[in-house]
Amino acid sequence: MLKLGNIGLEVPFFQAPLSGYSDYAMRKLGLSFGAPLTFAGVMLAKSATHPKVLRKPFFRPRDDEHPIGAQILGNDPLVMAAAAKELVAVGYDLIDLNFACPAPKVLRRRRGGWLLREPERIIEIYSRVRDAVSCPVLMKLRTGFNSSGAERDNFYRIVSVASEENIDAVVVHPRTVVQKFTGQADWELLAELKQQFPQTTIIGSGDLFDAQTGADLLKTTGVDGLLIARGAVGNPWIFRDLRAVLAGKPIPERPGIEEQGRTILEHFELVAGIYKLQKAVRFIRKFLVNYCKLHPKRKEAQKTLLAAGNKKELLAGIKHWYGVS
Ligand SMILES: Cc1cc2nc3c(=O)[nH]c(=O)nc-3n(C[C@H](O)[C@H](O)[C@H](O)COP(=O)(O)O)c2cc1C
Repeated sequence: MLKLGNIGLEVPFFQAPLSGYSDYAMRKLGLSFGAPLTFAGVMLAKSATHPKVLRKPFFRPRDDEHPIGAQILGNDPLVMAAAAKELVAVGYDLIDLNFACPAPKVLRRRRGGWLLREPERIIEIYSRVRDAVSCPVLMKLRTGFNSSGAERDNFYRIVSVASEENIDAVVVHPRTVVQKFTGQADWELLAELKQQFPQTTIIGSGDLFDAQTGADLLKTTGVDGLLIARGAVGNPWIFRDLRAVLAGKPIPERPGIEEQGRTILEHFELVAGIYKLQKAVRFIRKFLVNYCKLHPKRKEAQKTLLAAGNKKELLAGIKHWYGVS
């Protein structure tokens, strides 16, 4: 059981906010394969306070996907608080504050990971948001802007204040902002962090591509939960596998070709329910690259599926390589 404020999850992991990926289709698939909670991709707080934006179905959670979290990005405490309120009003169940994004356009505007250099601002944002909503509030951090001692001190100051204020959870991707995705996530740092803040719910993120690795890291580091991110892209089975391994059962066999094909079809139908058909065919390609990794003829299957220019060609490709339609 993982407690995030007043929301209890029966298993200690959930699906990450993944900008450009974690739309309703990926979330729904994640839930059906065993994720107890999913997140929409990060939203700009300023946009979320714009009345027109949250009227669009794309930005609103649907009835069949609770609990679902929203994550916001911004540097103005009042705007962040207003956005959190709006998001809860349209149905999101948790709010996560993004102080981790390393994208240059985000850093240029002093948002996301940039704010790790301004701990006092992060603390104020947290406090305003905490006062504005009654749902669980989390924050997502990297372990500093860069690896200098001063930046590391900033990181510890943020966690320390958040911990004193009884934050519902701190989600940490243990790389610095300048590292982006290079090198390896520093799970030893997470183990130390948990020792230092035993009363705080700490969720670890980074390089979680298979269930066994996740289960091992959960045990060895003592963190309270895992955030499954890239490991779930084109691989929703990771949630099924995590449930099994954490229950002490063997990890199920890899899905057979037909099951892979049926899952791709299911994913495509969900995607086609969100976007116009041509866009859906293009949009699902980034997932297909990963789905094809499980296929014994990966390269050939991938070549056909990525070359499909419309629904008919895509379905024909799936039928050819997976035997399902
Ligand atoms: C394409 C992509 C989009 C991401 N979008 C978000 C996001 O919207 N919010 C966020 O907090 N993290 C985001 N992340 C970071 C992930 O949630 C996660 O912390 C990171 O990928 C490390 O975990 P992993 O190595 O297991 O993927 C994103 C990562 C990727 C690769």
